Amino acid sequence: MEKLIIKGGKPLNGSISISGAKNAVVAIIPAALLIEGKCVIENVPCIDDVSVITDILSQLGAKIRLINKHTIEIDSTNIETCKADHTMVSKMRASYYLMGALLGRFNHALVSMPGGCDLGPRPVDQHLKGFRALGAKIDDDNGYYELTADELVGGHIFFDIVSVGATINVMLAAVKAHGITIIENAAKEPHIVDVANFLNSMGANIKGAGTDVIKIKGVDCLKGGTYSVTPDYVEAGTYMLMTAGTGGNVLIKDVIPKHLESITAKLKEIGATVNEYDDSIQVISTKRLAPARVKTLPYPGFPTDLQPLITTLLSVSNGTSIVTEAVWESRFRYVDELRRMGANITVEKSVAVIEGIEELSGCPVKSHDLRAGAAMVMAGLMANGTTEVTELQYIDRGYEDLEGKLTSLGADIRRIEDKTPSTTSKAN
Ligand code: EPZ
Repeated sequence: MEKLIIKGGKPLNGSISISGAKNAVVAIIPAALLIEGKCVIENVPCIDDVSVITDILSQLGAKIRLINKHTIEIDSTNIETCKADHTMVSKMRASYYLMGALLGRFNHALVSMPGGCDLGPRPVDQHLKGFRALGAKIDDDNGYYELTADELVGGHIFFDIVSVGATINVMLAAVKAHGITIIENAAKEPHIVDVANFLNSMGANIKGAGTDVIKIKGVDCLKGGTYSVTPDYVEAGTYMLMTAGTGGNVLIKDVIPKHLESITAKLKEIGATVNEYDDSIQVISTKRLAPARVKTLPYPGFPTDLQPLITTLLSVSNGTSIVTEAVWESRFRYVDELRRMGANITVEKSVAVIEGIEELSGCPVKSHDLRAGAAMVMAGLMANGTTEVTELQYIDRGYEDLEGKLTSLGADIRRIEDKTPSTTSKAN
């Protein structure tokens, strides 16, 4: 095991580039199962989740070739099995996309129930509702979902809640179904649009991705091609908030500023300067920031994945802030770690009340999940003294070279071997 040692109190300064989006690529790679041919995917982030999902595809029979550090070729012509076993599937939540992709290609999928990091209950009822609307029969037995259909036929689905995973999964299943599928109350995150763009560039006919209503006209086959993954707006938002938290000045490059509007607006509201350019965004912060009210919402609202980071930022603001988590039930568990660093935060169900303090104090803390791990690193960068962050397996799932990028911005952060055994599992 490894841990990060951070000496805090140094403002981040300089420029960095943002990698391809984790939550897009973990859907695009399984989507390649729908293609009988080769597809080349560019701007793939170098993160552990990509290794896991490409390993799963290899086990199914896909040929994966690493063209360079950020480009892979996937050939799904000869898939040997529709069964994705528990060992691999339990390592990441996004393996639920194997259900839609295998069902869409073979009218059959046998996929272990996906594991999940503890953000509260993570049901898949909306995914299953969508598959059923296309004509699939579903059995859940012995920890597996078995989905079968004689033929998938386009259907009309109105989701009861806005779900990223269900929206993408139903797109995957519907892309080759007979006739037209309409998804209403669809999620609108940039990764939904990216998966639709990927499938369309391979021959699919999907319209409306990025709006509430997505219309999919089934096509007979998807051909190969080349596609470049969209920039990771959550990674970009992470560095925007870290810059503001350390009182720094950073140009964040290779982003789509439109995707970052909710974060830009909140940072401006509390007193940071944010300058938007065509494909970069600059954050400057020179003074103690003001408190705020934040409520997480599906896109284009403030992203739940940045909730631990904005809470960390507000822990040293000049007054009382209220952060409401409206997407995941249990996403405040990391607050105990912030309290150990001196933060004054009380959590009642899904609402955190934050009394801003002058300064956090460095101490040993652990990552509870991917974004909470990033928040611990951010707290360490902001704190007085030295912070040790453990359970880095979460951070490595989704941030490419976090400490390398931070070091290039002037942070004092290094990774060392940690002799203490890990107490938690890795699934998210
Ligand atoms: C995706 O998870 C992301 N993961 C999450 O990012 C992100 O937090 C989440 O969307 C919300 O933006 C990936 O893209 C791989 P949802 P997902 O279905 O698809 C409820 C990160 O740190 N729900 O949009 O699993 C659910 O309980 C991760 O990068 C149902 O009730 O999230 C939640 O309250 C963590 N039934 C809400 O909807 C369902 O069938 C949103 O979940 C599905 C979801």
